[in-house]
Amino acid sequence: MARGVATALRDIAVLVAHGASPANVFAAISEQAAQVCGVSAAAVVRFADGGATIAGRWGSVDAFPAGTVFPLGAGGALTLVRNTGLPARFDEYERTGTEMHGLREGAATPVIVEDAVWGALLLAAFGGERLPADAEEKLTEFAQLASLALASADARERLLESRERLVRTADAERKRLERNLHDGAQQRLVAARLTLRMLRSKLDTPELDPVIDELGAALEELRELARGLHPAALSRGLYAAVGMLATRSPVPVEYDVVEGRLPEAIEVAAYYVIAEAITNAVKHAEASVIRVTAIVDGDELALSVADDGRGGAALADGSGLVGLRDRVEALRGRLQVSSRPGAGTTISATLPL
Ligand SMILES: Nc1ncnc2c1ncn2[C@@H]1O[C@H](COP(=O)(O)OP(=O)(O)OP(=O)(O)O)[C@@H](O)[C@H]1O
Ligand SMILES: [Mg+2]
Repeated sequence: MARGVATALRDIAVLVAHGASPANVFAAISEQAAQVCGVSAAAVVRFADGGATIAGRWGSVDAFPAGTVFPLGAGGALTLVRNTGLPARFDEYERTGTEMHGLREGAATPVIVEDAVWGALLLAAFGGERLPADAEEKLTEFAQLASLALASADARERLLESRERLVRTADAERKRLERNLHDGAQQRLVAARLTLRMLRSKLDTPELDPVIDELGAALEELRELARGLHPAALSRGLYAAVGMLATRSPVPVEYDVVEGRLPEAIEVAAYYVIAEAITNAVKHAEASVIRVTAIVDGDELALSVADDGRGGAALADGSGLVGLRDRVEALRGRLQVSSRPGAGTTISATLPL
């Protein structure tokens, strides 16, 4: 039984709003459009390289699987749409002589993206089927939803790319600052402290001692700052860097971390997730142990940092966890916080490799 057009359109709009992939939206559009018009097959095709490729389809007729390329130029509804940018109908497939698996009638409506004809939504009637008289009209709104799905997928992609750029730029800047601190201020302080120590060994001036101590403390603070900017230990890989974090943590850290090298962006993101989660556990959790895993699982790096503390962590409360989520999502990964009060906190993330 044909479903109401409004209901069908609404269902697809919901899919689009939830960010479903264009391929999934196209399949749904094909199905609903075919059912609304009472025919057994429909497809969304993309025009490229002189042909029309099926980008999503639905049908009880399996003659044209996804990926099928229809040649354009031999007449037919798709050719008309491509050439005119307007809805079209064609009912003489049987007479054109091309073997179209019993295709009898086709109606197609353009799918427009940024003012250009991207492709079309095609309805196909086989055998004894007939297209309704107003098929093209009914198709129009479905085709608009296809455009919308493409536009919003594109916008999402651009958003992810710009986030990725932001994180990359910030990381490069942190790395630069770390180098400058290391090669500049730190080296000078080290040299000044050495000179003072040498002087002290030759002169009987105990007044120099607190100055030497103070310089040492300043140096340590500077090192700490540099480590926070960009961990030097990362140059030897994630395993070494997590080892450093574990050594410096006042709460015992047990870890199971991949020993091989991973792409730099992944190592950096994984490091920051682990470092922030450990810092949080130390700062907020009153935990007795922290367990870290970072293992390659298929084509993903699976991370988790779990503590046995008081729980109750939430993404919205601070800047640390929110920053981690941005960083992970910029790499197309996912971050989850599970932290029921009293049940400890687990931060888990997956990063596609
Ligand atoms: N492991 C944890 N155990 C218990 N509570 C936590 C834990 N991690 C985070 N929280 C709670 O969640 C909040 C948010 O954490 P988040 O890291 O985003 O912020 P923060 O640590 O307070 O500040 P920042 O990280 O910016 O220095 C914290 O303020 C804390 O109340
Ligand atoms: Mg924090």
